[in-house]
Amino acid sequence: MSFLKEIERRRTFGIISHPDAGKTTLTEKLLLFGGAIQEAGAVKNNKIKKGATSDFMEIERQRGISVSTSVLAFIYKDKKINILDTPGHKDFAEDTFRTLTAVDSVIVVIDVAKGVEEQTEKLVAVCRMRKIPILVFINKLDREGKDAFDLMDEVEQKLGLTVTPMSFPIGMGYDFQGIYNIWEKNINLFSSDSRKNIDDVVAISDVQSPELEKIIGQKPADELRENLELLTEVYPPFDRQDYLDGKLQPVFFGSALNNFGVRELLDCFVEIAPSPRPKESETRLVNPTEEKLSGFVFKIHANMDPKHRDRLAFVKIVSGTFERNKPYLHVRQGKNLKFSSPNAFFAEKKEIVDISYPGDIVGLHDTGNFKIGDTLTEGEQMSFKGIPSFSPEHFRYINNADPLKAKQLDKGIDQLMDEGVAQLFTLEMNNRKIIGTVGALQYEVIQYRLEHEYGAKCTYENFPVHKACWVKPTDPKSEEFKEFRRIKQKFLAHDKYKQLVFLADSDFTIQMTQSKFPNVKLFFTSEFD
Ligand code: G4P
Repeated sequence: MSFLKEIERRRTFGIISHPDAGKTTLTEKLLLFGGAIQEAGAVKNNKIKKGATSDFMEIERQRGISVSTSVLAFIYKDKKINILDTPGHKDFAEDTFRTLTAVDSVIVVIDVAKGVEEQTEKLVAVCRMRKIPILVFINKLDREGKDAFDLMDEVEQKLGLTVTPMSFPIGMGYDFQGIYNIWEKNINLFSSDSRKNIDDVVAISDVQSPELEKIIGQKPADELRENLELLTEVYPPFDRQDYLDGKLQPVFFGSALNNFGVRELLDCFVEIAPSPRPKESETRLVNPTEEKLSGFVFKIHANMDPKHRDRLAFVKIVSGTFERNKPYLHVRQGKNLKFSSPNAFFAEKKEIVDISYPGDIVGLHDTGNFKIGDTLTEGEQMSFKGIPSFSPEHFRYINNADPLKAKQLDKGIDQLMDEGVAQLFTLEMNNRKIIGTVGALQYEVIQYRLEHEYGAKCTYENFPVHKACWVKPTDPKSEEFKEFRRIKQKFLAHDKYKQLVFLADSDFTIQMTQSKFPNVKLFFTSEFD
């Protein structure tokens, strides 16, 4: 198959949702359709169990299997599908943000009864910022839920999207009869006796046909006709370019658990979802069709066995081909590296691969060369735009609890930060280290891993910070900036890229600081240029 054809057939995407909306179930059903697994329940559950918020061993268990579910690949209708796993737990939102830099599109799963939830809002905001094409799947139609029109309204309001329904439910919950597929112009009947039948599709070329009453009954037929009429008045028709540009979001309805509406979603997805897209580097836009390899690390996974310190760096290929044993430039370190056993992912297995294409993810064994965000090329001095850090929500001093193991502690902290477990800030005034995390759970994970993988012990101490603000003065030499530095010196720190950060104790402080120093700009993410 030609290089261009290989690129064209790839669909690399992520499924995002608020926990419990049905992401795992949908992923599993997609794998079933792709023939990647044979039976439901085969996908290892990498979810952190409910109520396990204080149980960090659960996180270790989850980490143990998450290598195998990091990338789930399969072939469907000759398309190579790569699903990049994103952790649902909110304490790991940062991991999800990073994974979103490696996807070419996303599917957002929404629970029909709960509607748009908090985690979905945050994740979709990031997708919108990056203009990632979004497809919406409204799940659990077999249950009572919100009215379909109200839900689409809510999606538009809360998520800031412009939707176009591709299917529409006929009834809901107890009265749920099936789905009218606007895209394919047919009715997919939900069979209530087995609740498993997925092939009951009736072609209806014209909804005005009296056939409709015969199939679903008079009242539901009238309602469906009315609803479809209303839909065409209220919502714009599907336009693929608008979808690809992030301006229009198709909506599907279904029930992942019952395998209902999933085939329609997948069939439409492989048709309309983008193949690998060009990616902005710091110097230029890189096109997937370029002959020379480029790619970047978006995730690092440490080995679970402390005796083997190697890690797996996940590289998204942006352009060219990645070949086994060929030397590539590690741009940040300025050295050439060869990889004798790059891993590709297929279903839940990983295997050594000779050649990979744009859109694919390769797993590289690493002994400490890589950090998240690193770029590989065939010699060009180029870096992909940084993976942004967001302000953490928790901050604590980290102290060494075993003076004989100071080196181990430093190394451990360094490597865990490279992996992206948390963010490190070093106070300018006294070099004390502060760990910032999205969730409180990470502190236990860090403590546990430092001890078990690096033989170091740590304690924490509270540090009352509300937000980390990245600082950018209009003029670094100005008196105003000097004054800012003098007054705020106790709260100034550096992140791991040596960028200046102001650790503010409240929103009020941030407001006051902004009005007092209007030429010193404060940002809540590290990507502000
Ligand atoms: P997540 O990955 O987004 O967190 O959600 P997950 O797929 O694990 O689904 C969360 C719960 O919702 C599960 O039930 C799952 O069975 C259920 N679910 C998913 N899709 C549907 C659907 O279409 N209809 C209905 N009625 N339920 C659905 P659970 O009881 O929490 O877990 P389990 O014991 O069934 O695994």
